[in-house]
Amino acid sequence: MTKPVVLIAEKLAPSVLDVFGDGLEVRHVDGTDRPALLAAVADADALLVRSATKVDREVFEATTKLKVVARAGVGLDNVEVPVATERGVMVVNAPTSNIVSAAEHAVALLLATARQVPAAHATLQNHEWKRSRFNGVEVHGKTVGVVGLGKIGQLFAARLAAFGTTIIAYDPYVSAQRAAQLGIELVTLEELLERSDFISIHLPKTPETKGLIGAEQLAKAKRGVIIVNAARGGLVDEQALADAVRDGQVGGAGIDVFSTEPTTESPLFGLENVVVTPHLGASTTEAQDRAGTDVAKSVLLALQGEFVPDA
Ligand code: MLT
Repeated sequence: MTKPVVLIAEKLAPSVLDVFGDGLEVRHVDGTDRPALLAAVADADALLVRSATKVDREVFEATTKLKVVARAGVGLDNVEVPVATERGVMVVNAPTSNIVSAAEHAVALLLATARQVPAAHATLQNHEWKRSRFNGVEVHGKTVGVVGLGKIGQLFAARLAAFGTTIIAYDPYVSAQRAAQLGIELVTLEELLERSDFISIHLPKTPETKGLIGAEQLAKAKRGVIIVNAARGGLVDEQALADAVRDGQVGGAGIDVFSTEPTTESPLFGLENVVVTPHLGASTTEAQDRAGTDVAKSVLLALQGEFVPDA
């Protein structure tokens, strides 16, 4: 009997193969190589991706066999779910696999930006002792604005609270009562901008959230605010943020995600007060292990025609 074909289009943790065992034929392709992906998906029963592979109508139309697309992570913005539904293809993800890692990376970016760690590191690596050039700000005693109080936003807020901060949040889908239980004051986006010394974004990318923080919002923020985005590119307008950093309205920014990915160009690159990483929020051994195990289990169930429970 022929084995179902599972196509892995990005680097995933070895835990995926451990779950699959010998019952499936596993093939690999570079999901960013469009012609190769379209050719390889034709024979695939399952397709596994992270965030770099665009699973759009063209991909779905290149296959009649595909039964399940698995996203080894939280966000589904690189998978055209309505097209999958239209074609009877199941979409599964690993919604809690990397939430701790994402929250920790946002904290790392905030601290690195507040103390200019990468720029200071670069000077010393260059054999220059520039102690007086770097002067950071403390997090203690400050107001931290969390935009989006979902699972990751809450984990981030809990970690920042340990620094002795006041946490305020904007999230139209969370009640003031729930926020109060978490020790967080719920405010409007406008108020959050006006009051926060640090702002961290924890939203999915949707038509409503795209471009949420642009020139107008940055102008309303406290002068010198530090902005962190480890959620999705395009939520903060990169050009507007770069302009605001250059004129001092924004004191610094820690950015993990970009409107186009992968990218080697952004108006934010080259600014000393901006710390950038190439979408590493979920890139930890633990998160990748969990994501791999979770989606591999779901793919197995989907290929057996079983019900796939929410993670
Ligand atoms: C996610 O949506 O969970 C992350 O972006 C996953 C990833 O980094 O691949």
